[in-house]
Amino acid sequence: METKLEKGYTLRRATKEDISQIININIQTLPEHYPYIFYLDHLENYNKAFYVAEADGQIVGYIMPRIEWGLSLLRSFPKFVRKGHVVSIAVLEPFRKRGIGKSLMEKSMNSMKEDFKAEEVYLEVRISNEPAINLYKKLGFSIIKTLSYYYADGEDAYVMAKRL
Ligand code: ACO
Ligand code: ZN
Repeated sequence: METKLEKGYTLRRATKEDISQIININIQTLPEHYPYIFYLDHLENYNKAFYVAEADGQIVGYIMPRIEWGLSLLRSFPKFVRKGHVVSIAVLEPFRKRGIGKSLMEKSMNSMKEDFKAEEVYLEVRISNEPAINLYKKLGFSIIKTLSYYYADGEDAYVMAKRL
């Protein structure tokens, strides 16, 4: 299933053959890396919500999700819910600010809701990562809490979440 968009890129579900390119993008764009088996496991289990963006005949962005069962981050009383978790999203630098990140998020969140019946979506983000925080706010996420020293280099994370 492909969605043609006006701005010269295409979104489609990721396949196994894409994993090496996804790893390449991850290494170029983020300090948090994962082994091949981690990508494969997420691809096999959550394929419907795992998207890549293509432009100029190459993969230029990805969103790797997971579905979890746990306490709601958004309700005032304790309730177990199915939650979509954005494990990692990235777009190659020359392809940023064209709406690709936002489209990847929208596609994946739609699948979390429709295919997996998730009620909420959440993620962690470095408190200094202004582009990403802005993107999530633009999509309706709010900051739920701060996780101190969440990252290996000691930086704090915001947990951000949104009702689906
Ligand atoms: N400065 C401020 N706001 C920004 C910026 C920026 N540099 N980039 C994006 N935004 C915000 C804006 O609100 C923008 O809307 P606008 O264009 O109408 O102003 C909105 O995000 C949507 O922007 P997109 O063009 O869709 O985002 P893009 O394709 O550039 O991707 C991303 C955003 C994924 C955060 C990209 O900057 C990136 O790959 N960064 C490096 C990797 C990264 O930090 N990933 C997120 C880590 S957290 C996690 O994975 C859960
Ligand atoms: Zn996470």
